[in-house]
Amino acid sequence: MPETRIALDRSARVAPANRRLFGSFVEHLGRCVYDGIYEPGHPTANEDGFRLDVVDLVRELGSTTIRYPGGNFVSGFRWEDSVGPREKRPVRRDLAWHSLESNQVGLDEFSRWLKLTGSELMLAVNLGTRGIESALDLLEYANHPSGTALSDWRIANGTPEPHDIRMWCLGNEMDGPWQTGYMTADDYGKLAARTAAAMKMADKDLELVVCGSSGSGMPTFGEWERIVLEHSYEHVDFISAHAYYQERGGDLGSFLASSIDMQYFIDTVVATADHVGYKLKSTKKINISFDEWNIWYLDEHKESEEVNDEWRFAPRQLEDVYSVADAVVLGNLLITLLKNSDRVTSASLAQLVNVIAPIMTEPGGAAWRQTTFYPFSVMSRLTRGEILRPTITTGTYETAVHGEAGLVDAVASYDAEDGSAAVFLVNRSQTETETVRIDVRDLGVSSVREAVSLWDEDVYAKNTLQQQDRVGLRPNSTAALDGGVLTVELPPVSWTAVALG
Ligand code: AHR
Repeated sequence: MPETRIALDRSARVAPANRRLFGSFVEHLGRCVYDGIYEPGHPTANEDGFRLDVVDLVRELGSTTIRYPGGNFVSGFRWEDSVGPREKRPVRRDLAWHSLESNQVGLDEFSRWLKLTGSELMLAVNLGTRGIESALDLLEYANHPSGTALSDWRIANGTPEPHDIRMWCLGNEMDGPWQTGYMTADDYGKLAARTAAAMKMADKDLELVVCGSSGSGMPTFGEWERIVLEHSYEHVDFISAHAYYQERGGDLGSFLASSIDMQYFIDTVVATADHVGYKLKSTKKINISFDEWNIWYLDEHKESEEVNDEWRFAPRQLEDVYSVADAVVLGNLLITLLKNSDRVTSASLAQLVNVIAPIMTEPGGAAWRQTTFYPFSVMSRLTRGEILRPTITTGTYETAVHGEAGLVDAVASYDAEDGSAAVFLVNRSQTETETVRIDVRDLGVSSVREAVSLWDEDVYAKNTLQQQDRVGLRPNSTAALDGGVLTVELPPVSWTAVALG
């Protein structure tokens, strides 16, 4: 049986475990908001119309910061439409997703929903069809305590306390031709810099995210970051990164190694940001907000008929049903984000409910967990203290897309306060169980508290409305700690978590 060796050392510290890496994303898209988190007629709905069965699942998922209200949607959005008496709110066309927007959920309702889920809001402003004035108005409405036209409007609308939103996105994917009002890097960099500077005149402590590339495959990737940051460096705090992966042409080996591309993406953005920083003689570092990442079967959606000439409310869009292999890749992407958490200091799984999401719902019916729910929820629950970068010695295999890939990937966290630790691993082999020996002597742990894996004989097994619990976590009884060495067996195409104490 092949064997992997891993060494865990407390000195191989990456950064303190940052709860913001377990963020998510709610966009007014398809059935994410309407018939997703919000369904007034549902038996579990509260007085605001929010489904409490979905709230329970969001809490179990452990998502922290939630990006809202888009995505592509935000680039045509007039925020004023979605506040005030609901019966007066206009219906608008959403050009991004070719659907109708009722505006029945807006900032004030969404903030109440966030309180139920215990999450922090990360709000995006529209720099597609709008600009500085609308961003400043939204900031005043959201964050100013009282005594001005827009803060008093919020109070009159039933929200006396300011929302106190700290993280703001300066538009969305402005490099993409699909974006309403997309721009060149030069135009966007100037607009983002002026918007950021004005917003910081209102509140210098805001944390602002400037748009980076929509993917590492964009023709402007790298140059976009350089130009945008040359304009905006001193005014912003983060640059965004977005990445979606899917299996193509039956090449599961390449798909399982998708995190190699995410690593390349992170390395390139960090190098570019630091290059601009040196050039500007700045002492400040710009970190990455990886505020859209996931598995998304985008090619299939492009070919489908779901975006057509009909204008409908909350159509079923981008409702990918995820397999075991998808969940293993998602677990590996999250491992990569944690490994880079010295520079990736915020991240959002895109998205949360129904739309390329870990949680699915049926109108009037059930809410259930997709396969991808499990690695995210366990890692959110067990990651504590500080992130440790393991030294991994493992076999390799060749991929068509990413070159040579390691069979096993892993990351760990260690909490010095209570002496507990957690190790997260994936096995990318499609045929072999991998025995992993992990030297944990330096951590001083003495017992295995929990060991679970996600795997299946059928790597394409999924959870569906009809079979909601077809795939779930399985206890991994092979995990054993002896003489400071943790041994665990990883089935083919699997994700595993081991908690130690
Ligand atoms: O998450 C789905 C879409 O993907 C978002 O609206 C957009 O920002 C990205 O292209």
